[in-house]
Amino acid sequence: MALQQLFRIKPTDEIVSEAGQGEGGELRRTMGLWQLTLFSVGATLGTGIFVILGQAVPKAGPAVVLAFVVAAVTALFSALSYAELAGTIPVSGSSYSYAYATLGEIVAWVCGWCLMLEYAVSVAAVAVGWGEYLNTFFQGLFGWQLPAAITHSPGDKGGVVNVTAILIVALCTWLLLGGASESAKANVVFVLIKVAVLAFFCIVAFTAFQTKNFAPFAPLGAAGVTAAASQVFFSYIGFDAASTAGEEAKNPRRDLPLAIVFSLLIVTVIYVLVAVAAVGAMPWTEFDPDSTEASLALIVDQATGATWPGLIVSFGAVIAIASVVLTVMYGQTRILFAMSRDGLIPKVFQKVNPRKQVPVANTLIVALFIAVLAGLVPLGQLAEATSIGTLFAFALVNVGVIVLRYTRPDLPRNFRTPLFPVTPVLGVIMCVLVMAGLAGVTWVAFLLWMILGFACYFLYGYRHSRLNSEAPQ
Ligand code: ALA
Repeated sequence: MALQQLFRIKPTDEIVSEAGQGEGGELRRTMGLWQLTLFSVGATLGTGIFVILGQAVPKAGPAVVLAFVVAAVTALFSALSYAELAGTIPVSGSSYSYAYATLGEIVAWVCGWCLMLEYAVSVAAVAVGWGEYLNTFFQGLFGWQLPAAITHSPGDKGGVVNVTAILIVALCTWLLLGGASESAKANVVFVLIKVAVLAFFCIVAFTAFQTKNFAPFAPLGAAGVTAAASQVFFSYIGFDAASTAGEEAKNPRRDLPLAIVFSLLIVTVIYVLVAVAAVGAMPWTEFDPDSTEASLALIVDQATGATWPGLIVSFGAVIAIASVVLTVMYGQTRILFAMSRDGLIPKVFQKVNPRKQVPVANTLIVALFIAVLAGLVPLGQLAEATSIGTLFAFALVNVGVIVLRYTRPDLPRNFRTPLFPVTPVLGVIMCVLVMAGLAGVTWVAFLLWMILGFACYFLYGYRHSRLNSEAPQ
């Protein structure tokens, strides 16, 4: 096995020239700038703000607001790098394809494997929790709940099969099979609803705002802020989702970079406002670190003394998660599509239905995998494991920007990350710092995942890579 072969690079021009082409059909370019931006927002705004905010407050106190800013800055450096590469190599593989063009096949594989944590595994973890939000909503609306046996995974609070998780995956699969354009339209509606609900939250919470809740601002010091920032970083994951739509965007070179940066700015403003409103309305000591319910609902109920505002917020959480599942599942199918076209995974993932212009088999396999995972496996602690994979992929994208500037200075770049090379270097450093803040058990889970990934690569990808039949680069 030649080392050279492991690090072979796929020429950028070749990656770009194959865009859209699958086996049996082509993907269709239907998405404009706003659909792409809302696609990323759809993938990002979810449990992070509705639930994890509440769990992070006891770590940092009112300075949780600062933790959201720190996490946003961490994400911003990487977002700028994503924007540069998405404008230069506008294909569906996202960071996997960028790594293939810059750092070599094995690194691209590692990246693609990490993206599975960011997309498929995280979406399963998100779907697992959907039943609980649905139940909070049903409880408020009808006064009854679905039985625990069908809303929790086996071994968790009396769960047998998490039917609600399977249901949300099935609904999103149905939308995805209808076409990328239809899915994007459904997502726009979901996003508008969740943003409206968060705006409603802010308005209600500000009526109970008390400045004294902010003193002392950082009772647990800088360490508390860093720990909270690592935890809430999860809420920013997803801004890169637009980069998986490179082959279905109308004007990808111009729109992808803008969509990535806009979506991050939009969610950051929303998160900071929501965090300020939340801590202003409820003293930080009253937040429960173990609460899995939308603490935002509790806040608005307390602020008004009524129960209907909480009902609106829990409805927002139900819709928010549906849109995360939809967009993230979409992203996973398109990344696998790109990996399959390169021969690193089986061909079935690149088959496109010529009538629907959707990778149907790919979507069904991804859906089945996620449904089984979400329905049968208790994924409680998995959210953090997905953050580590994401951060690793982000770090690689930052390195990719630096490498490509030197190896291919000639490529047309629609967006250039400002202050190069400071921003991508800071991007790498910030990713490593946040990774260091994650729990030891998360690292173990990540290492096991990587070992499995290497086994798959050497047993399949290495032998079937399409570059095997081409001259070494
Ligand atoms: N950022 C996504 C969420 O918070 C994963 O649910």
